[in-house]
Amino acid sequence: MAAVVGVVDKAERLPGVKNVIAVGSGKGGVGKSTVAVNMALALSHEGAKVGLLDADIYGPSIPIMLGLQGQKPKFSQDGKVIPLEAHGIKTMSIGFIADETQAVIWRGPMIHKILDEFLSRVEWGALDYLVVDLPPGTGDAQLSLSQLIPLTGAVVVTTPQEVALADVKRAVEMFKKVQIPLIGVVENMRSEIFGSGGGEKAASQWQVAFLGGVSLEANIRKSGDSGIPIVVSDPRSNVSQMFIQAARNLSGVLSQQNTSGSEQPKILKA
Ligand SMILES: Nc1ncnc2c1ncn2[C@@H]1O[C@H](COP(=O)(O)OP(=O)(O)OP(=O)(O)O)[C@@H](O)[C@H]1O
Ligand SMILES: [Mg+2]
Repeated sequence: MAAVVGVVDKAERLPGVKNVIAVGSGKGGVGKSTVAVNMALALSHEGAKVGLLDADIYGPSIPIMLGLQGQKPKFSQDGKVIPLEAHGIKTMSIGFIADETQAVIWRGPMIHKILDEFLSRVEWGALDYLVVDLPPGTGDAQLSLSQLIPLTGAVVVTTPQEVALADVKRAVEMFKKVQIPLIGVVENMRSEIFGSGGGEKAASQWQVAFLGGVSLEANIRKSGDSGIPIVVSDPRSNVSQMFIQAARNLSGVLSQQNTSGSEQPKILKA
């Protein structure tokens, strides 16, 4: 059948990208961006070719976390956008092309348009993983992503407390609604105060992989603010090893899925 001009088929976007992994959560501020950035860098540390897409149109945090504030992407001769690079990974964010005052007035259709551009006009090239940092809340970005590209699946970030179960449930329902399969859970901000275990419980409840736990550490925040995430600034530290372990577990789960012959991680019943 002849292709319709101007309409890109979902399967034709990102032809060189092997896995697209969305990082999301059931509520804001649990460390999605921190986990997305450090896991992307951990996958790269393990030798993979990695891209990081900031799908948070209203509150992009990737430019600061990767030390790329104020930088602008260049265009290739054929009008494609060349992603910026930091610490060995390629990245694209609305923060590179618009200021926050512009972003607040955008609505769902605009978000869809921008994500479409990010996925079809950005020259991502050959990647083992494109990690997508999702915004908190509504589901507009999740819906757009699921319509625009075949996602490998989602990683849900949660916190250790009992409420984690409810938070993960919310995320599972959101991803299920837009048919994004769930790959596994990362428990962030483990500490003496918050404890640990909520993420593991949630993973077992939803029968998905528990990818790992990450402690609450001042150095994680400081390194995120400084533009050199902890996995790069101090890869041997305990917390960096936690991110690296979670990244290894993620690639382990994905390769198991590939060899077991199932095409996609399962979509859960919420
Ligand atoms: N394990 C951790 N230890 C210490 N600080 C952390 C940890 N994880 C995240 N933070 C800090 O918590 C704050 C929120 O993290 P982050 O921006 O990654 O969350 P988010 O879920 O992406 O938020 P939003 O929902 O607004 O997108 C940041 O200041 C970050 O540096
Ligand atoms: Mg975020």
